[in-house]
Amino acid sequence: MSDTLLLVGGGGREHAIARALDESPDRDEFDLYACAGNRNPGIARIAAGFETLDTSDPDAVVAYAEEVGATLAVIGPEKPLAEGVVDALEAAGVYAFGPKQADARIEVDKSFQREFMAEHDIPGCPDYAVFDDMEAACEYIDEYDGDLAVKPAGLTGGKGVRVTGDQITKEEAKAYLRDSDYETVVLEERLVGEEFTIQAIVANDDVLITPAVQDHKRAYEGDEGPNTGGMGSYTDASFQLPFMTEADSVEALNVLRSTVEALDDYRGILYGQFMLTAEGVKVVEFNARFGDPEAMNTLPVLNTDFYEILTKARDGEPLPELDFQEKATVCKYATPAGYPTNPEAGTKITVDEDSAGDALLYYASVDERDDGIYTTTSRAFAVVGVADTIAAAEEQAEDALAVAGEDGLHIRHDIGKADLVQRRIDHVAELRGE
Ligand code: AMP
Ligand code: GLY
Repeated sequence: MSDTLLLVGGGGREHAIARALDESPDRDEFDLYACAGNRNPGIARIAAGFETLDTSDPDAVVAYAEEVGATLAVIGPEKPLAEGVVDALEAAGVYAFGPKQADARIEVDKSFQREFMAEHDIPGCPDYAVFDDMEAACEYIDEYDGDLAVKPAGLTGGKGVRVTGDQITKEEAKAYLRDSDYETVVLEERLVGEEFTIQAIVANDDVLITPAVQDHKRAYEGDEGPNTGGMGSYTDASFQLPFMTEADSVEALNVLRSTVEALDDYRGILYGQFMLTAEGVKVVEFNARFGDPEAMNTLPVLNTDFYEILTKARDGEPLPELDFQEKATVCKYATPAGYPTNPEAGTKITVDEDSAGDALLYYASVDERDDGIYTTTSRAFAVVGVADTIAAAEEQAEDALAVAGEDGLHIRHDIGKADLVQRRIDHVAELRGE
């Protein structure tokens, strides 16, 4: 049987998904179409058709799916999941790989996320409290003995969280809440440690684990500045990060497995963001999709056919075992000048693809128009080095950044460099009292 596959989303993560599908040994068995709010030139080149539409509007996605005769869909970003695009496609007879709206709450509603963890005794849940009244939240901040993470319950593109004692003072946290129009906020104990991501591919009761990744959320080198969607990330050939032990991975896997068990019929990607603390592995958050940039560390080294994963998921069959190349990866994003606080959208950029060398190039939230490629308010493109060691992958990525030309894009060059990686190792050793 041949399929018509619809990919929803136009970021770097979705370019990585498109390329993984394009490399399927069964590529002649399906046509690939894509839709997104921006015209991503990398995806458009791979797809038989590309439509720009509002992907958080389920009716618009279903209409395009029907127009192209989709038999299978894969959803990249969180917003369509939050708006019920999977449910709408299913009602129209199209299986979509991604959680239904109710299950996507594990990402979309941070108060649900914590209450769910508490109710199901999922390990690694920090102390937390949920408030609908911002004045009551401010009182709690005053009375709480210690630092807190202040988290708006809804989606904020990774930019809504403020951590006292790290980014802001308690007074600033209160002002932040009072000035906001947040309806619900979660206040939770500040976790101190090193963050890492482990993503699982989930369907038909299978939970398949992918290599640990470390993203860099802060905008500027040395982990300074505001939080972003992620400036870049790395993995190691061992599938662990250099600061982790196997026991840390096992703890994280237990969290993912117990979460899938408690969620009942979850399908898609379950992304765990963890903090390795002095007290063990804690959950920073769950996402209901691949991370961006983490997908770009994961899919290029996945030997298993991603199309087969999708069809097996749809057909109710056991998923194929995952096989990864034993390679390190380093991903670095180029973002518009001023990102994330004051990003310069609408700047025409030149991307010299021939300069990427051995590295992979993924287009992200840029918009291709008749006369060239333009920035939006979000990340523009990423380069990914793939090599035997983190150092070699970093060098490859760094060399490839020549594709960026002189357009004033913002890049964190320190990601994956030996001294930053060593700092992580030292940090964990210090936490463990070694
Ligand atoms: P989130 O939107 O939940 O991904 O949070 C964004 C970032 O805020 C995380 O990657 C962490 O760096 C930070 N963060 C979230 N929750 C906590 C916490 N409980 N303690 C310390 N940092 C946190
Ligand atoms: N890289 C973090 C995220 O995708 O949410």
